[in-house]
Order: sequence, then structure tokens, then C-alpha cells
Amino acid sequence: MLRFPAILCFISIAYAADYYYPEVFNDPERDAVYYDSFPEDFIWGSATSAYQIEGGWDADNKGPSIWDVFAHTPGKIYNDENGDVACDSYNNYLEDVKILKDMNVKFYRFSISWPRILPSGLIDNVNEAGISYYSKLIDALLDADIQPMVTLYHWDLPQALQDIGGWENETLVDIFNDYADLCFDRFGDRVGYWITFNEPYVVTWLGYGIAVFAPGINDPGYAPYRAAHTIIKAHAEAYHTYHKKYSYGGKISITLSTDYGMPEDATKQEDVDAAIRYMQFTAGWYAHPIFKGDYPAQMRSQVDMKSIAQGLNESRLPSFTDEEVEYIKGTHDFFGLNAYTTTVCRYHESPTSEVNYESDQDVYRFQPDDWPKSASEWLRPAPWGLRELLNWVKTEYDDPEIFITENGVSTPYEQILDDSDRITYYSAYLNEVLKAIKIDEVNVVGYFAWSLMDNFEWASGYSQRFGLHHVDFDDPDRPRTPKDSALFYRDLIASNAFVINSAVFIRTSSMVILFVFALIRLLK
Ligand code: GAL
Repeated sequence: MLRFPAILCFISIAYAADYYYPEVFNDPERDAVYYDSFPEDFIWGSATSAYQIEGGWDADNKGPSIWDVFAHTPGKIYNDENGDVACDSYNNYLEDVKILKDMNVKFYRFSISWPRILPSGLIDNVNEAGISYYSKLIDALLDADIQPMVTLYHWDLPQALQDIGGWENETLVDIFNDYADLCFDRFGDRVGYWITFNEPYVVTWLGYGIAVFAPGINDPGYAPYRAAHTIIKAHAEAYHTYHKKYSYGGKISITLSTDYGMPEDATKQEDVDAAIRYMQFTAGWYAHPIFKGDYPAQMRSQVDMKSIAQGLNESRLPSFTDEEVEYIKGTHDFFGLNAYTTTVCRYHESPTSEVNYESDQDVYRFQPDDWPKSASEWLRPAPWGLRELLNWVKTEYDDPEIFITENGVSTPYEQILDDSDRITYYSAYLNEVLKAIKIDEVNVVGYFAWSLMDNFEWASGYSQRFGLHHVDFDDPDRPRTPKDSALFYRDLIASNAFVINSAVFIRTSSMVILFVFALIRLLK
């Protein structure tokens, strides 16, 4: 039986700690708030993407993108909403720069709409009005002492290129390179950080596999693999163009996404393998060729095995030639990571009859009911998963420099300005980033909050709000108003640290005294 001093010891350890989600995540070792500061040169930023904020969908000769066409098709988007006007950043970009400045961020990650500067996608018809828009935005950012990080492809392919097969057509490798080259040429003197593709896993699976995102293709066993193959080559070619043709000295890489895959039963090897396999099929699909050469071994063996069992002559996962492997390997200057949530993985053998990228994984995934919720069904906060994920990236890809290029949460609609759930989420997730940096020595150099403001959340339209700023979509001027989370983020950036507050200090010190007292009694 526990003696009284032992009980006191236990109570003092448990209660000295502070937790962000005390009801569910209260392991003193894993979840307790960690007080320390971020590295002095830590990069704080916020992120958006063109289609989600710009509007001006056909302004000044812009060509249509696949998202314009998809969103204009009835039944594809919640409430048949679209990004025709969105936050109207095409006209309000100076306001965007102002709210960034007010939050004190030093970096802004935005994307270029390819059809705004090349209406048909091809290099033979440059739209100078589009070039001028981005040029003015970049200049305004630099004037405000904010560095741009520019994504070349955040999902809005020129429709004219979809008409020739989109990413399933390998000619897009060179066509994308022409577009990237134009951007480097026109903006490269002022942009230090480039990202070729945002979350290609989402592009290929949701867009080519299950048709819930543009271009709306439903071909789950083949098209995602074909589209990914082109995207990886296109990324590599643009990377080489940037470094061979230009000497700006900036950095260029890709942004990949995955949930942290947690084994349902960590004592079962088959669940542990399933969790790793899930991450290899999402982020690893792209990271492995780019960081290590060729597709992950787990993907190769799974898809090859299933393809043979399905009676096919060749694997549904295409192959790179040896030259391609070498050309692609090493095309990264940092690891761009988008991370929002954690998923529990269990081994599950899918029937061979299912010709499907998800079935190829042999993984069943879920999120427990008792985890906290957000306004998005797929996004349950599980902050410790980000620390795990960062450690996985560190180990798997040889300790790269990591930018968290997106992290954030959607809050219930009632929380318009007083978005306490978002503050809790950012506090918890950023505290895990801090633990990863300080305790685990993961090389995280920057963090971009998604998103600067409420915007068009893809197939969910305007029903899910991720913004640090509220946008009034009923007002033609689209006014932006800081939510409480914007003020929280501003203050965190200013202190660059998690600072122990007086209430926690008093509680912690009284618990320490209690602990020492109990220990002395125990040892007597
Ligand atoms: C990411 C995407 C963003 C944003 C965010 C929130 O996958 O890159 O554009 O929509 O999710 O869902």
C-alpha cells in the first residue's frame, strides 16, 4: 500500500504540471507545458494560397484554373460556393501586408496563381498584369520588412493544361519548368524562399484518386501514381533550373503533408509497420525520391505485390530510371512540412480486388472519439503527434532543416473573434515544436500559421474557418479583423518563448515544496 508521503509525492508531480487539453492529454512526461524560449533567429510567419484568398478569378486576362472550373460545377463545393471573390486579395493585398505587419511576422508564405501570369499555362503568352500584381505584393512585403516565401503550385493548375491530361501528362514536367523559370526570372531577385509544390499527396489522392478536389478525377488505383510521378520530376527540374540558371542564393524545396501515424498497439509489430507504411505512402511517397532516391521500399513492395495479385503485367507504381533517380535525389534545400493532426493506424489486410491507393497500404485508420474536436471532421488536435512527426522527419531524412509551412485549426463558427479553441491549439502545438527543438534537437527553423485570415477552404467552401483574422464575406470590402488568436500569436512572437506565468509559478513552487517535504518523510 502507498504510504502518505508517497501519495504526496505523486500528487505534487502530477499537479505541478500544466496541460492544454487536461481531460485527454495529461501524461506528465509527454503533455506537460514546457517553458523555454525559441532560438533567437526562429522564423515566424503566416500562410495563405492564391485560390483561397485572391478572388479576381477572371480579372485582367487571368485564365481559368481547374479550381475555377471545379467550383463552378454544381454540387462540388459546400453550398456551391467558390473563390471568385474570396478575400479579394487581388484588390486588398496592401491590407494583407498591414495585418501581417501588425502581428509582427517576418515571413509571409503565399502562392502564385499560374493562370494569372500564364493564362493558358504555356510560356508563349505572359500576362504582364498578373506579373505586376505579384511584383507589387512582393515589394510591399519587403517595404514592411516581411520576407516572401513563394509557393509555385498550390493546386490551381491552368484549365488548359488539364485539358491535355493535367499531371498525368508527362509533358507538364517541361511546361511547369517554363512557368517556374519565369517566376525565378521576374521575382527571384526579391524572393529568398521557394516551394515548388504544396502537398502533392492531397493533389494526387483527393484530385485524381477520389474526385473530391479539382480536377475531380475518380481513378483510385492508377491516376494518383501517374500524377505523382510527373510532379516529382517537375519538382526536380525546377529545382535544378533555379540553382543552375540563377545565382540568387535563395532556397527551394517542396512542402509535404502527412498526419502523424500512431500505431494503435505499439507492442504489435504489424501496427507499428502499418503506421510507418501510412507515412511512407503520404509524405514518403515524395520525400523518399527527393531526399533519398526512388520510392520508399514499403510502397514499392506493396504496390508491386498487389499489382501482381491483380493479374497486371506491370506495377501500378511507375519506375524511375537510374538517371532519373540520381537527378531527383538531393533536390531539396529544406523540408517543408504541413501538419495538422494525428491518425491511429492498425494493420488491416485489404482485399486484392480493391484496386485503390488506400487499399494498397493495408492500413485501417481512425481518430478516437475522446480526442478534442475542431470544425473539420478530419482534424482532431493531438499536439504530441507533431513532436513525434518532427522526430520521424529528423530520423528518416537525415536531420534536415525543417520549415513547418502550415499548421492551424478550424474553429466553430460561433467563435468569430474570441477563438479560444484556436489559442489552445496553437499554444499546444507550438509547445510541442519547442520541445522538439530544445529537447530532441530537431532542426525546426521556422513556423507558418495557417492561415492569415479566413478563406475559401476548398470543398468545404467558407464553412470552415482557419483564420487568425476574421473576414466578413458579406461585406463587398471584405474587412479583416484580428481574432484573439492573432493577438496571442503577436504576443508569442514578441516574447519568442513560453514564459511561466505567476499563477503557474506559485502552484509549481508550492508543489516543489510539497514534493521535497514528502521525499524527506519517505527517506526517514
Ligand atoms: C492544407 C492546405 C491548405 C489549407 C489547409 C487547411 O492541406 O494546404 O490550403 O486548406 O490544409 O485545411
